[in-house]
Amino acid sequence: MLRRLHLDQPDSFAFTPANQAWAEAQITKYPEGRQASAIIPLLWRAQEQEGWLTRPAIETVADMLDMAYIRALEVASFYFMFQLQPVGSVAHIQVCGTTSCMICGAEDLVAVCKDKIAKKPHQLSEDGKFSWEEVECLGSCANAPMAQIGKDYYEDLTAARMGELIDELAAGKVPTPGPQNGRYAAEPLSGLTSLKDFDSGHTKYNASVQLATDIGDTVKRIDGTEVPLIAPWQGKAANATAKPKPTAKPAAKAEIVESGAGAKPATLDGARDGKADDLKMIKGVGPKLEAVLNGLGFYHFDQIAAWTGDEVVWADQNLVGFKGRVSRDNWVSQAQALATGAETEFSRRAKKDDIYNGE
Ligand code: FES
Repeated sequence: MLRRLHLDQPDSFAFTPANQAWAEAQITKYPEGRQASAIIPLLWRAQEQEGWLTRPAIETVADMLDMAYIRALEVASFYFMFQLQPVGSVAHIQVCGTTSCMICGAEDLVAVCKDKIAKKPHQLSEDGKFSWEEVECLGSCANAPMAQIGKDYYEDLTAARMGELIDELAAGKVPTPGPQNGRYAAEPLSGLTSLKDFDSGHTKYNASVQLATDIGDTVKRIDGTEVPLIAPWQGKAANATAKPKPTAKPAAKAEIVESGAGAKPATLDGARDGKADDLKMIKGVGPKLEAVLNGLGFYHFDQIAAWTGDEVVWADQNLVGFKGRVSRDNWVSQAQALATGAETEFSRRAKKDDIYNGE
């Protein structure tokens, strides 16, 4: 199956500040030189934020992980979990079309999708709420035919039940995932023949469905209400024995592309008295972007606080992979407050939650 970038791409992508902090925390999971291992969670977060995976999002993630764009694209185009074109605002339905599902009625499920959603896979329904595609075996063959909707599996489907599921989702409900024919899990449809007392004390649903029901994010996407994930794997105790992290390297020249827009602000050859401000206290600046700023000659809050409108335009255009970040997060007013020694809401939270682990 061909998986290609969508023809119609947005101009840019940027993680929200909360997602940026989350992504940067994920990167700290991996040892020095192995940051590329964070590609899957970062691409997933970008998709959760936007609904689908855009080319600028893939390239932004590649920049964050110091990967060639083609390597990130290889990952994004390999896995069916990544959607390379816009999907329905309510749900994207992935119908398994492999052997078990096919002989048990997958084609009937596809026919329902064609009828109720759109004639072709990856087309949005007229109301924009749904899209569908056929995928390879999802590993739930004993419950064929099945489909993945959002993050969960709907199994033992019939064409009629598939139609109902779509109607329920369109009405704002989230049908309970798992077997749709009364089976608990993958036991014989005619009933148990052995281990008949297994049901004493088991949960209402099988483990997968119970967890899906408890979490409740089958078709929910990130909306900013999530508890921010910091870096629980880097607790204080662990840090005490951890090797100190190498200081961020100055940004490579290749990351700076002079666009000619705006006016370049004044820069310094180095931090005054060798002591740079912690620019990560500015919302929207993480370790990588701080290294880029230092590489450009910006080390202090007062430098950024003094940027004029033209200079903001220059910075917005020239921070490759972070375009538009300066004005979006209003760095200048943040830096003006921080330069006076005051705290901002973000810097207070960043220090309290130890977002960057004191890096
Ligand atoms: Fe459909 Fe395996 S064949 S889940």
